[in-house]
Amino acid sequence: MNQDQLKQMVGEAARDEVLKLSAGQILGVGTGSTANCFIDALAPHKDHFAGTVSSSNATTERLLKHGFKVLNPNDVVSLPAYVDGADEIDPAGHMIKGGGGALTREKIIASMAKQFICICDSSKQVPVLGNFALPVEIIPLAQGIVTRELEKFGGKVSLRLAKNTRPDLNQTPSEPFATDNGGWILDVAGLKISDPLKMESQINQIAGVITVGLFAKEKVNILLVSNAAGVERIAF
Ligand code: A5P
Repeated sequence: MNQDQLKQMVGEAARDEVLKLSAGQILGVGTGSTANCFIDALAPHKDHFAGTVSSSNATTERLLKHGFKVLNPNDVVSLPAYVDGADEIDPAGHMIKGGGGALTREKIIASMAKQFICICDSSKQVPVLGNFALPVEIIPLAQGIVTRELEKFGGKVSLRLAKNTRPDLNQTPSEPFATDNGGWILDVAGLKISDPLKMESQINQIAGVITVGLFAKEKVNILLVSNAAGVERIAF
């Protein structure tokens, strides 16, 4: 079974999970290739939900294409669940997210939701977070000072460059990758994150940081994880 099949399988399991929610509510929807599988699997059941809130422009576009209603988060007061992937997840349910650059809106929608349902394949499960470089979204003019502050945590900090993944912005690979919010991303490689809650709060306090891609405060409530044997459901 290849990774695409594992993502599809867990996307379908997440569809079944959210269809257990009573009808007529709003659903939070994440970003990335696994979240895309979930959106595609849920599309035939879109009328079960009164609408969605989206964590990125790319997700909004996909949701609209399928005919989902996409609401402004400011108009939403109750969100029973948020479904999204992860780049790494530890045994306590803390995650690294932001590989696709959508970490800030992801964290906002996650903070609104009663339950974070994380969907991934088992390659994302790690004993300690940090093998995946930690994304930090920043205000561009703070790049220098935030880089120096992040280096104090012991990792190697690099500015993420565009990969032509944003044709809408007409960016070239030598330019900084720009997020949906106009921020830049610093990726911190080589960390061993033994206390994710503490590191999340320390990095968030650096002036110029918009959001760190550590999801420790907003950790997972239900993990759906796929491997060749099927999908395991773990409640935290
Ligand atoms: C987007 O910014 C990320 O947080 C994604 O949720 C994460 O990178 C997982 O993406 P994949 O499902 O594509 O691995």
